Amino acid sequence: MSSKDRIAVVTGGTGGIGTAICQRLKAEGATVVSISHSCEKDRIADWLAENNLDIDVLCGNIADEADAARMMKAVMDKQGRIDILVNCAGITRDATFKKMDAGQWEAVINTNLNSVYYATRPIWTTLLEQGFGRVINIASVNGQRGQFGQANYSAAKAGMHGITMALAYEGAAKGVTVNTVSPGYVETAMTAAMRDDVRESIVGGIPMRRMGKPEEIAAAVAFLAADESTYTTGVNLPVNGGLFIH
Ligand code: CAA
Repeated sequence: MSSKDRIAVVTGGTGGIGTAICQRLKAEGATVVSISHSCEKDRIADWLAENNLDIDVLCGNIADEADAARMMKAVMDKQGRIDILVNCAGITRDATFKKMDAGQWEAVINTNLNSVYYATRPIWTTLLEQGFGRVINIASVNGQRGQFGQANYSAAKAGMHGITMALAYEGAAKGVTVNTVSPGYVETAMTAAMRDDVRESIVGGIPMRRMGKPEEIAAAVAFLAADESTYTTGVNLPVNGGLFIH
């Protein structure tokens, strides 16, 4: 697998899964740009050092259309092109639906779903014109099967694969593939924030009896991003330890 000399952008690129994706795409030979919302200078410098990464980090809000357009343009201006876009920015605001307020609904739909439009739309025409592109949307097992307490998140993640399928048709004849990776429960700050009893009960139901590692998600992304992956488009690739087999 190779992404040698490709330009890759990873939204949510300083998060748990995003970091592993940045590292893996860099190892595959790509120039990687990470887009991050939490961007104090010290924190980014520490993150780069801790993860042994020498990449650009752009700071801004991918859930804001104008800010997203600004960041994608900045990458295009500096790098001259973008070949790979990994839409990985995501948050949770878990609550049972009877308690879920509009703020929790909108925050998750904006960050997880609308951001895919905001990041992809400014570069889509360029991808088609250059005749090469890899768009990879990081969704979730909970977008495939639903999850108690995650009506907002499940809707956003299911919607991400809807975008994947539609764009796969639009890019197919132009060398642009669009795919979804749907992780299960992965060892990140997001799952660490869950209540211990809830997390333990979910992990007990995973056939592999453990959570996934960010590197295991990054491996799937590297496959879909690679130059060699020319005939795979519109798929939803589950990486979930057997949690949802269908
Ligand atoms: N199915 C059916 N009933 C359930 C249930 C389930 N899965 N889970 C809880 N219930 C029941 C409880 O037994 C309880 O019933 P009673 O009122 O009769 O006692 C009732 O529903 C309320 O449950 P909670 O005590 O859990 O309610 P809460 O308001 O304290 O907590 C919650 C709600 C925060 C949503 C909590 O249930 C929760 O954390 N759920 C898990 C959400 C989840 O999986 N998040 C994933 C985060 S990581 C991620 O999203 C990454 C990824 O892609 C996988």
